[in-house]
Amino acid sequence: MEKGLKVLASAACAFVLLAPPGALASSPTLTRADNRDGQDLSGTWRYSVDPYRDGLAGFHRGAPGAGHRRYDDVDVDVLTKDKPTALYEYDMDRAATATLPQGWVGHDPSLRYYQGLMWYTRRFDTPALKPGQRAFLRFEAVNYTAKVYLNGKPVGEHEGGFTPFSIEVTDSLRASNNQLTVGVDSTPQPDGVPPPVTDWENYGGITRGVRLVITPGVFVDEAWVRLSKDGRIAATVKLDGAQAAGQEVHVRIAELGLDVAGKTDANGMLTASTAAPKGLVRWSPEKPKLYDVVVQTGDDRLTDRVGFRTIETKGRDILLNGKPIFLRGISVHEEEFGDNPARTITEAGARALLSEVKDGLHGNFVRLAHYPHSEVTTRLADEMGLLVWSEIPVYWLVDFGNPRTLKLARDMLADNIRRDRNRASIVMWSVANETPITEPRNTFLYKLVDDVRALDDSRLVTAALLTDRKTVDGKSLMGLNDPLADKLDVLSANTYNGWYSDDALDALPDIAWKPTDKPMVFSEFGADALSGFSDPALMRKFSEDFQKNYYEKTLAMATKIPSLRGMSPWILKDFRSPRRQHPIYQQGWNRKGLVSPTGRRKPAFWVLQQFYKDKEAGQ
Ligand code: GCU
Repeated sequence: MEKGLKVLASAACAFVLLAPPGALASSPTLTRADNRDGQDLSGTWRYSVDPYRDGLAGFHRGAPGAGHRRYDDVDVDVLTKDKPTALYEYDMDRAATATLPQGWVGHDPSLRYYQGLMWYTRRFDTPALKPGQRAFLRFEAVNYTAKVYLNGKPVGEHEGGFTPFSIEVTDSLRASNNQLTVGVDSTPQPDGVPPPVTDWENYGGITRGVRLVITPGVFVDEAWVRLSKDGRIAATVKLDGAQAAGQEVHVRIAELGLDVAGKTDANGMLTASTAAPKGLVRWSPEKPKLYDVVVQTGDDRLTDRVGFRTIETKGRDILLNGKPIFLRGISVHEEEFGDNPARTITEAGARALLSEVKDGLHGNFVRLAHYPHSEVTTRLADEMGLLVWSEIPVYWLVDFGNPRTLKLARDMLADNIRRDRNRASIVMWSVANETPITEPRNTFLYKLVDDVRALDDSRLVTAALLTDRKTVDGKSLMGLNDPLADKLDVLSANTYNGWYSDDALDALPDIAWKPTDKPMVFSEFGADALSGFSDPALMRKFSEDFQKNYYEKTLAMATKIPSLRGMSPWILKDFRSPRRQHPIYQQGWNRKGLVSPTGRRKPAFWVLQQFYKDKEAGQ
């Protein structure tokens, strides 16, 4: 047993230090930042649009002049009263106001297709830090890049629109009138993740919460607590701070009478485990039991609510807590119900979406596409009892040969896993969606799969793959002919026969699939329908009649596939996409939703609901 490690809950313990990819995260993860001391900086901000990035560079692209630097720690009105000849072509303190978090389309609909730089600012007071305390600015998501300034000084930058980041500001914070300014640039990058062309709206903005987090000098940065396959409660705790090594840590689960304690190693890490108590109630969709977990070291105390379950595959089966399951799912974009969504996911908004999955469709699974969703949603899935597919937006044509792009994807994957690996609902991490098969792409994705294995050996790995179609003896035979499949636990197929093909819908049930020796999931299938548009005679695409018939025939095909263990049809709700511009049927919306933007269920909804009710009844 490692020196100094005391486990109070059982006689023996085994511990293995996780080797995260590359260097440890440069800035802290600050998991469950919402549970930490500090203050919420969401609310009223002021904003100034800057399409020509005038705040960052002058007219010959040199350094910006004083009259243009939106982030300067000044009050322009006071300055120009003192010096009437001074010229300022901005004034953030008198700019228009917006309530954050939300995409800027929410506070200014004329900015729907604006892809560029936007400045946001707010002022705030905060209690003076006590000796030894540290302060962090925590952003849950800013799409796509963020330049952060505090009191006129640049304090940090971040790229990636769907994962949190924290910036230490201990030395830049003052007690009163702090000026926080963020330059948000939603311009998609050719070497970015996601790539410039996707099939969803690019909601630029500060789209999730902002907090000031105050911590002791040494604090619990991450505390991953889970049930391992060998029936032990394992805890991997990472402290942050100059004195993180050799610190006493306690992981307590009072309801189970557990107090796993030990001292951190030279890296500030502690991994320990103990036999799971007999009375442990395992988490499942039917019984989503969560335990209060308290992780304490010195003056710091981090709390979380954690479910304990196992997920694995055995042959063609997916086993939850050792029992085979069928994933009765649907795909969901992060976009709230309503005619003018702004990617603002409140708990009520997330509950509205997930309730349609669980109660509406009788589902037990949700694919949170195509990027890490808000932690509000993943925590709610824990509470409501929905299994989750979580993914990063390595989508379509990513710049696979570019080392910068790979690092972006790896960091995004690691940040997503580190943020959410206490979420029992998440059962699989997906590393890609519909990416074309090339050697650079294979190498890129193999690396991501290896990273998942290194960061989280408790979940499954998958990717949404493109299918290939052959004609054998005059019949269509579908398959997944992708080298990545060998690295995956679950083979996921996006298949659209009958929508992105001119197959007659009546021919769909006879399309055969090559057998697989691993579990297969239909990660996508779907058809558009404009809510309320009926055309029974012609059964044209975009009619509700076509969509209903498409679901009936595709499900008839699905039931014949021996290794199919789940599905997440595309998609729960119509969602905004700039690629969808049919003037009658689409108007900038992808209409594959089973539900309209305002929540009206289409006829195909009931087809899938009945299919899942039958599955639930064991048919
Ligand atoms: C693709 C893709 C989705 C897209 C969908 C569609 O498979 O993964 O992001 O929205 O098909 O074409 O509607």
